[in-house]
Amino acid sequence: MSAAADPRAPWWRRAVIYQVYVRSFADADGDGVGDLAGIRSRLAHLRDLGVDALWLTPFYPSPQVDGGYDVADHRDVDPRFGTLGDFDALLADAHGLGLRLIVDLVPNHTSSEHPWFRAALAAPPGSPERARYLFRDGRGPRGDEPPNNWRSRFGGGAWARVTEPDGAPGQWYLHLFAPEQPDLDWTNGEVRGEYESILRFWLDRGVDGFRVDVAHALAKDPDLPDIPPERLRRGPAAEGHPHFDRDEVHDVYRAWRRLADAYPGERSFVAEAWLQSPQRLARYVRPDELHTAFNFHFLLAPWAAGALRQAIDATIGSLAGTGAPPTWVLSNHDVTRHVTRYGGGALGARRARAAALLMLALPGGAYVYQGEELGLHEVEDLADEVRQDPTFARTEGADPGRDGCRVPLPWSGEEPSYGFGPSAASWLPQPGSWRELAAARQAARPASMLSLYRAALRLRRELVAPADEAVRWLDAGDGVLAFRRGPSFACVVNVADEPAALPAELLGASVVLASDALAVDGSLPAATAVWLAVEAS
Ligand code: NOJ
Repeated sequence: MSAAADPRAPWWRRAVIYQVYVRSFADADGDGVGDLAGIRSRLAHLRDLGVDALWLTPFYPSPQVDGGYDVADHRDVDPRFGTLGDFDALLADAHGLGLRLIVDLVPNHTSSEHPWFRAALAAPPGSPERARYLFRDGRGPRGDEPPNNWRSRFGGGAWARVTEPDGAPGQWYLHLFAPEQPDLDWTNGEVRGEYESILRFWLDRGVDGFRVDVAHALAKDPDLPDIPPERLRRGPAAEGHPHFDRDEVHDVYRAWRRLADAYPGERSFVAEAWLQSPQRLARYVRPDELHTAFNFHFLLAPWAAGALRQAIDATIGSLAGTGAPPTWVLSNHDVTRHVTRYGGGALGARRARAAALLMLALPGGAYVYQGEELGLHEVEDLADEVRQDPTFARTEGADPGRDGCRVPLPWSGEEPSYGFGPSAASWLPQPGSWRELAAARQAARPASMLSLYRAALRLRRELVAPADEAVRWLDAGDGVLAFRRGPSFACVVNVADEPAALPAELLGASVVLASDALAVDGSLPAATAVWLAVEAS
């Protein structure tokens, strides 16, 4: 029996993990911002959906310059989101429903409001307080040019100059993200010790694991060299980069794995690392490192059979030597929602339905981003004044940023906030068309996206998860992905814009789930996926 088929396999090998973007999931107190009590009140949605676990994006005290990825205190809850007591209650309720819970760990940087950074600003150059971050003197005779040419991921330069306590223009510090997110120096023993203590704090509270933010960024080339101009573009990191995917980062994860393994209960890590090659990503999930990693190669693949198949094969192939399970993801809080990426409107929604069946048929684990089970699209017409993502301001609007995928969820009702909270307030306005997409409305409709996700997740437990881990591709026409896993499960996805016949060897199989109605002759309409149960011969 393969590790995935074994019912005793650790939960994270095939878990479907639902991403809760805390600010936008459910608002209990009516201030327009989601909170922990709101999540707790909606746990039944996740139970009924049939996921195994939830991942909470950062809810720690934070000035919210980058939606909470600017953490000022790693061991508490921001008052906007509740209290540690609310967290404990949420965790207990989730566990009571059989749902695991993982939290976000942000190790590359802190908020500029973190006590360590404040202490660094108050201390002189060369002090131990500054040594926790990457402070350097500037270039040029007056030190008024940044130490190198690195760019912030949010646009603009990656260095900010401080004013020294005596009022003079002073050193520069590195921020790969916003200036309010200074990068930590991971060669510093105090930094390493602090994060191990943070891990213990949450593990002792009972969390089931961590999502590791920008896991590939922690180690920097100690010489901080300039980046050749042709490599300064944004996008997944390529090999040999001075601040992404450096070998030294793996020591950190080996230490964390030892720490987590000492706890009972299969605690696990998932790495967020945008890398150019699946082979480099596989290094993060070697047996003594992190358990899994997000598969952005799959997410980035366009709706085209060749590209999807290539991403699937490259993922599975690259993991072969590690023993780690693959994972699959279509959307998250950093990317344009996939209904929109796949063409938008009815076509995008139809493709998204088929994509869900593809993703959930593959071996390993999967991530569902809140709202994808409702078929939400990217909100592309937000007014400039309401946009909060720092990317928008730092690129002077050239990049609209990520607010469009972060709009609060519609749950029920006729008027905004559509059940998001007890008041009409929501920190980003919801489109009127979301009234129809509210969870309560979709729950009552068998053909809705929500009903499809529920059916798929139920059948996945029965039919897909126990199937063989290996994917065996079948001959199918151009534009069609068809594969079997073990003797009794098959999935066929017609990615093309014309109808397609099922592969000959599946003609006698029974359709257990289809993303949209099949044609009367049993062929697959354009952008349709089916799951089939094959009689053992
Ligand atoms: C990745 C997170 O998903 C994103 O939202 C955040 O802006 C950056 N890391 C910086 O922490």
